[in-house]
Amino acid sequence: SFLEMEVEQINKGKYEHYMQKEIHEQPESLTTTMRGRLKRGGSTKAKTVLLGGLKDHIKSIRRSRRIVFIGCGTSYNAALAARPIIEELSGVPVTMEIASDLVDRQGPIYREDTAVFVSQSGETADTLLALEYALENGALCVGITNTVGSAIARNTHCGIHLNAGCEIGVASTKAYTSQIVVMAMLALAIGDDAISSQARREAIIDGLFDLPNKVREVLKLDQEMKELAKLLIAEQSLLVFGRGYNFATALEGALKVKEVSLMHSEGMLAGEMKHGPLALVDENLPIIVIATRDACFSKQQSVIQQLHARKGRLIVVCSKGDAAAVCPGGSSSCRVIEVPQVEDCLQPVVNIIPLQLLAYHLTVLRGYNVDQPRNLAKSVTTQ
Ligand code: G6P
Repeated sequence: SFLEMEVEQINKGKYEHYMQKEIHEQPESLTTTMRGRLKRGGSTKAKTVLLGGLKDHIKSIRRSRRIVFIGCGTSYNAALAARPIIEELSGVPVTMEIASDLVDRQGPIYREDTAVFVSQSGETADTLLALEYALENGALCVGITNTVGSAIARNTHCGIHLNAGCEIGVASTKAYTSQIVVMAMLALAIGDDAISSQARREAIIDGLFDLPNKVREVLKLDQEMKELAKLLIAEQSLLVFGRGYNFATALEGALKVKEVSLMHSEGMLAGEMKHGPLALVDENLPIIVIATRDACFSKQQSVIQQLHARKGRLIVVCSKGDAAAVCPGGSSSCRVIEVPQVEDCLQPVVNIIPLQLLAYHLTVLRGYNVDQPRNLAKSVTTQ
């Protein structure tokens, strides 16, 4: 029965903690997120995306003057990860808003805007207030939630469900990767089908089909991340540098570490390194640099070189086989985490997983409650 299925799903099964279970079930949650929505093959061999909840609004979204993403915490980070591919495929300018900040500023929202509300629970008070505000201002409001019947699902004009399954751990993991995938599908759905972008679109669809396998592969880093957690257990602080598609990975990786392991951690835009953060670099502070292959790779290589020149304690996340290309002085100069390479816009889905594992192991080793961190709530329904 449905109830038994729910109970089964809520059970920790062979795992010790919900966060651990939810990290490891990402190959399955991503599969259910994509189920029935991606089409490939058939007589025309066409590759297409179907998002039922949006079908009557796709044209309006495509014609809007701006797409503005609104969310809090991890949901905001997921939208940030998807922003570049939405801009690329739709050509519509995309701006980002932290829900509370939009409301604080009473920032401009217009009738010609599409406002996309991203919220795992669909009940976050800050996001709901921003939705009320956007509705008053006449924007087309789209909801992306994991909870059927939630306030955001009910009060938006249209939307997409994540179908990631129930998430119990306060720190969001599987919802984050499903949110990125849903927004990549949104990019495909609103992008025009110009011949010039045909190959790119097909590569992304193929990449989506293969993503659960790549996620299964990257989850094998579990033990390696536990070893790394042992080395970092007594640190005061951890920095994470990313850029481009993986600026979001830096923010989200640092957010995971601080919220569950209670270690200070900051995600930073690598392009801003010289404008302040570089002052923090010494031989003690551990620094994670995301340097997987994409158009920003050579810029990240030079960031690594600059950090190395200042004796930074480097941990580099790179594409499989790239260890030598990212370590300036050979493998003794930095610790390398090799991840499978996927289509650039989907790489944030793969790259966050070692950082989720690191946050999980750090927390367990430090003896903190990983599923219910001190002072935090799964769903913040009050202001
Ligand atoms: C709380 C949770 C976070 C979550 C944020 C947004 O702060 O602790 O993990 O990312 O709310 O939640 P939502 O349900 O709107 O995605």
